[in-house]
Amino acid sequence: MTFRRVANPDRPLRVVQVGAGGMGQAWLRNVAENPDVELVGIVDLSPAAAEAGAAVAGDPAIPTSTDLGELLSRVEADAILDITVPVAHHPVTTDALFRGLPVLGEKPAAQTVAEALSLAAAAEVTGELFMVSQSRRYNDQLVALKQQAGQLGDVGLVTTEFAKAPHFGGFREQMDNVLLLDMAIHPFDSVRYLLDREPLSVYCESFNPSWSWYRGDAAATAVFEFTGGARYVYTGSWCAPGHETSWNGSWRVSGAAGTALWSGDDAPTIDVPDGPAAEAGAFESVGSDITGSLASFVRALRTGETPDGEVHGNVMSLAMVEAAIESKDAGRRILLDDVLERALAEALAAEARDDVRDRLANWGSVRRALGEVRQAV
Ligand SMILES: NC(=O)c1ccc[n+]([C@@H]2O[C@H](COP(=O)([O-])OP(=O)(O)OC[C@H]3O[C@@H](n4cnc5c(N)ncnc54)[C@H](O)[C@@H]3O)[C@@H](O)[C@H]2O)c1
Repeated sequence: MTFRRVANPDRPLRVVQVGAGGMGQAWLRNVAENPDVELVGIVDLSPAAAEAGAAVAGDPAIPTSTDLGELLSRVEADAILDITVPVAHHPVTTDALFRGLPVLGEKPAAQTVAEALSLAAAAEVTGELFMVSQSRRYNDQLVALKQQAGQLGDVGLVTTEFAKAPHFGGFREQMDNVLLLDMAIHPFDSVRYLLDREPLSVYCESFNPSWSWYRGDAAATAVFEFTGGARYVYTGSWCAPGHETSWNGSWRVSGAAGTALWSGDDAPTIDVPDGPAAEAGAFESVGSDITGSLASFVRALRTGETPDGEVHGNVMSLAMVEAAIESKDAGRRILLDDVLERALAEALAAEARDDVRDRLANWGSVRRALGEVRQAV
């Protein structure tokens, strides 16, 4: 999608951050460390959170408010960071886009695929960039793994094993489908990047081990079919003490000519039995985690180059989560196309804005609208 550039390299990008909770504080530190960005205000429904955020940002006098419109009547901004809870992503980001401001928002794009489609259409109507910060994409080891995958011939199977045993307390221990909703979107997004292909279907089972300290299912196994026939198998547990994997999980990429392995923490390794693998090519660092996504957002606004995480390209990662949950509820294989088409119908029925609804109604196929050009099905 083409979007309006905010191209003034002579001064930093002026941002207002909405949401200053746990992750919001990490973002405020991230912004403070990036000379290309200047924080001009903080919005949070909780004045105490906004004030605590101002202290974390190192400027207790920074303007704060409980309302974005009110704050924008006092400060000039070039862009918005939406670091609110998922239920607020749709209203906050829609509001910002229609105020003529591009948005960098925390994952997930929205609470549901239907809301994410509405945001993609809102970005089209306004011509503003909406980028989702899918932070685990910004990892040079993952880029190196993708390079190695390119040397394996046809890739047929990718697996991720995830095993952690954190005691978070709070909302995660109470939510439904905690592993699939809160964590699995990261590897689901990463495998789309790794394969440069899109998912077609999924069969998933999830369950809660007898010793789990979570209310919702803390363990799951999902088998996805991708375009070209490759399979992706994800097995994860959030109540798996002992021999824990990294936070990225442990990856195996199996191709016709060999295999690549990635622990998620160390440089990936490649084994091509019938001939040496080519030397890894040099590539520009993508940065790390939210540092990388913020740099990518600034670069996109200055150059017009579509960033990883632009909402149209990100929706399918959320659709993988929704499809996996639908599969485990229904006890059968689910087609991603069915999830997308149902989400479009839901988005049309729920849309409050005529201009966004008209745009959605003109989409026809959701896959085409999302600009899926990677691999023909
Ligand atoms: N990338 C990662 O690794 C990672 C890690 C943790 C959280 N997250 C994501 O970051 C986001 C925020 O999570 P968190 O842990 O900081 O949540 P949190 O509950 O700690 O903080 C959210 C803040 O947003 C504020 N808020 C909610 N609705 C608002 C609205 N409409 N307007 C203004 N402020 C509003 C709340 O008052 C709260 O201060 C979530 O989308 C979460 O999924 C990502």
